[in-house]
Amino acid sequence: MRQVKPFYFDITDDEIVYFQQESAKILRSATLILGEYTTKFEQAFAEYIGVKHAISCNSGSTALEFLLRIKKIEGTAVLVPTNTNFATVAAIIRAGGEARYLDMDKKTFAPTLAMVQEAIKRHQAKSKTPVSGVLWVHIGGVVSPEFLEVVRYCRKHGLFVMEDAAHAHGSQIKGVKSGNLADAAAFSFFPTKVMTTCEGGIITTNNDEEEYLARSFRNQGKRGVNFGGLHHDFGNSSRITEPGALLGLIQLKKLPQMLARRQRGYEIITKALDKAGLSYVSTAHMDAASQYKLIVHVPEGRHTDDLKKKLSGDGVLCGGGVYDLPCHKQPVFEGVCSGESYPGADRWCPNHLCPPLTSGMTEDDARYVGETLVKHLV
Ligand SMILES: Cc1ncc(COP(=O)(O)O)c(C=O)c1O
Repeated sequence: MRQVKPFYFDITDDEIVYFQQESAKILRSATLILGEYTTKFEQAFAEYIGVKHAISCNSGSTALEFLLRIKKIEGTAVLVPTNTNFATVAAIIRAGGEARYLDMDKKTFAPTLAMVQEAIKRHQAKSKTPVSGVLWVHIGGVVSPEFLEVVRYCRKHGLFVMEDAAHAHGSQIKGVKSGNLADAAAFSFFPTKVMTTCEGGIITTNNDEEEYLARSFRNQGKRGVNFGGLHHDFGNSSRITEPGALLGLIQLKKLPQMLARRQRGYEIITKALDKAGLSYVSTAHMDAASQYKLIVHVPEGRHTDDLKKKLSGDGVLCGGGVYDLPCHKQPVFEGVCSGESYPGADRWCPNHLCPPLTSGMTEDDARYVGETLVKHLV
């Protein structure tokens, strides 16, 4: 039976040979961190996004935490969608901030501007803790059409906006790529993301001071190039490895090609969904989308787990949802914003599924995924 899987590591035999040769050079050089591949990868990533600086580190989680610590959020409240990965909310708490959840909209799986305004009002009515900004998440790589309005609103009110761009490599709206749409951003290179360095993350910013501090934070708080033995910041050993950066360079070079294949898969699958009148989170308003996840709404009265089982029985294996359980329901965050409700997230998180969409899928696979979704969801 045909099987279409939700994950695919996109690497060719030639790339494996190149990786082996260059890794051998790295090992012989004995420069295993902070060497030429880290520099080249950071420069190439900054150029790709169109920002002044890119600072790599060991994970997307670390990138988020460092961004927030650089922004000195300690003792302030930061707005964050409840519909996100554990890491987004955890970064706020680790950086000493208070997480204040935002609900989400069915159409984008993200908050709206009205939800941001309402959350600020609600918070101010209850608490004296100042709101410092918003940590926004481009769920599935989808940049909400309202995101730029949120950025404008926050700038007007002296609030920062950071992008959690863990899903959004290559996503672009109104001529600007995610990673350069707000004050600063954090990307993840976790193995399931649209490009990977095994483990890894990167901060993008146009701010020189932020760049300087991010480099210090990821290197045990040692500032500058000739840092000697002085530790100025409460940093960590959070560098990317040289082989990781090498893999990142290989992946970045082919990112446009990988994204084009994902886009083709998205177009084929959604054509079938459109024809059948099934609903999903569209990226039609964007210049380009990472197509990290295709978010399909489960029709009223149907059960997500049951549908996933039926799809799996026909060889269409769904990936994890984004997200099946919102953060306000995660046991670890018990006590965060307690007593508040998020009806959008409660309704839509359990009622969506993410069919396979990878750069390794053929057009025929995508047609099969589309047909199988229609067969079981209609
Ligand atoms: C939205 C989001 N933010 C942050 C992270 C954390 O990235 P990492 O796994 O590289 O720490 C992830 C993912 O894994 C994510 O999906």
